[in-house]
Amino acid sequence: MAETIVFLNKDALIIKSPKKSSSPVSRLIVLIFSMVFGVYICSICFKQINIQTKNTFLDIEVIQRPCYKAFIDRSQIPFLHYPNPKTFKRLECVGNPVRLFAILSMQRSGSGWFETLLNSHINVSSNGEIFGQKFRRNNISSIIKTLDSVYNLDWLTSSSKNECSAAIGFKWMLNQGLMEHPKEIVDYFNDKGVSVIFLLRRNMLRRLVSILANSYDKDARILNGIHVSHVHSHEEASKLSKYKPTINTSSLTLDLREMEVTAMKALQFFNGTRHMVLYYEDLFTNPSKLEQVQDFLKIPRMELTSRQVKIHKGALSEHIMNWVDVNKTLYGTSYEKFLQADY
Ligand SMILES: *[C@@H]1O[C@H](CO)[C@@H](O)[C@H](O)[C@H]1NC(C)=O
Ligand SMILES: *[C@@H]1O[C@H](CO)[C@@H](O)[C@H](O)[C@H]1NC(C)=O
Ligand SMILES: *[C@@H]1O[C@H](CO)[C@@H](O)[C@H](O)[C@H]1NC(C)=O
Ligand SMILES: *[C@@H]1O[C@H](CO)[C@@H](O)[C@H](O)[C@H]1NC(C)=O
Ligand SMILES: *[C@@H]1O[C@H](CO)[C@@H](O)[C@H](O)[C@H]1NC(C)=O
Repeated sequence: MAETIVFLNKDALIIKSPKKSSSPVSRLIVLIFSMVFGVYICSICFKQINIQTKNTFLDIEVIQRPCYKAFIDRSQIPFLHYPNPKTFKRLECVGNPVRLFAILSMQRSGSGWFETLLNSHINVSSNGEIFGQKFRRNNISSIIKTLDSVYNLDWLTSSSKNECSAAIGFKWMLNQGLMEHPKEIVDYFNDKGVSVIFLLRRNMLRRLVSILANSYDKDARILNGIHVSHVHSHEEASKLSKYKPTINTSSLTLDLREMEVTAMKALQFFNGTRHMVLYYEDLFTNPSKLEQVQDFLKIPRMELTSRQVKIHKGALSEHIMNWVDVNKTLYGTSYEKFLQADY
């Protein structure tokens, strides 16, 4: 009996001893043990995260993302990015998601005006016609390299904003390499969750007038010897619109048809992306279109403004030198609707 008591006492002593005497060596052992165990648990967690996301195209972004805010709709996750730009820090907005977009359009279809409207939004950066430079669209690898740089917020233009951009994009003309690599670009857009805004013009005859006038001004430089494609005052607009182009009526029907086919092909090629189709005419006559665009980009609605002024206003007959011929050529055809002043 006495022995058992002694034993129990000894046991009690042994159990208590680390607490009481806690030598530096044993504390170190406990510390090392808990560190090793902690690292082990962390590595298991990361492995699980990796396994969960391995099959999605997002693995890097998903692991790097800051915590999702509770209100984010999970169906939106493929469209949300948390870029880590090389050129600056996103500071207090590092946790705000960024959406990617591309405006697919054709020259003289209102894309310059549309971009100034978008850029008046505090959270939007639309970086202009970046593929206007040929070397950026030479081949698909330079196209993708350029896209990566833009979408990582590392493309510096006057419209690139600060750390709080929530939507980042640019405008891309259909004749700038886009139609040569549709498959690769659609894959890229879908992998990255890029939203596409088609900005098209219904009235291709008005577009043609604008193309011819703009092309004339490249040499004529009507405004103080400077060529401009967009103006900011009614005086400038009326000076520019005094020039009336002569339209080649022998190729007119074919030219209009070609423009329509190009637009239609683009709609087909990029139909598999998340997209919306916007017509310049609707943007002009229906202010709620801009709200639809903001909803599509999932940015807070704001009043969007632009200083640009429309150059060719009113009836087309006022803007075409050989109007009688043009009217004769299109009257009674499916393009007759283009002759009417639609806005
Ligand atoms: C693609 O174009 C870039 C720039 O024009 C050039 O430097 C590069 O060598 C080209 N790559 C291929 C694979 O042709
Ligand atoms: C928009 O920008 C403002 C100011 O820069 C910022 O406070 C806000 O969080 C941004 N909104 C979004 C949705 O990122
Ligand atoms: C008008 O179009 C026709 C047919 O395409 C072409 O042969 C002719 O050279 C064009 N005329 C002018 C002045 O460009
Ligand atoms: C785009 O796809 C939808 C659904 O598959 C189809 O109904 C529509 O006709 C397509 N549009 C074009 C322009 O190909
Ligand atoms: C176009 O031509 C038709 C037929 O000659 C004529 O009735 C119509 O008034 C013309 N339209 C305009 C806007 O000149």
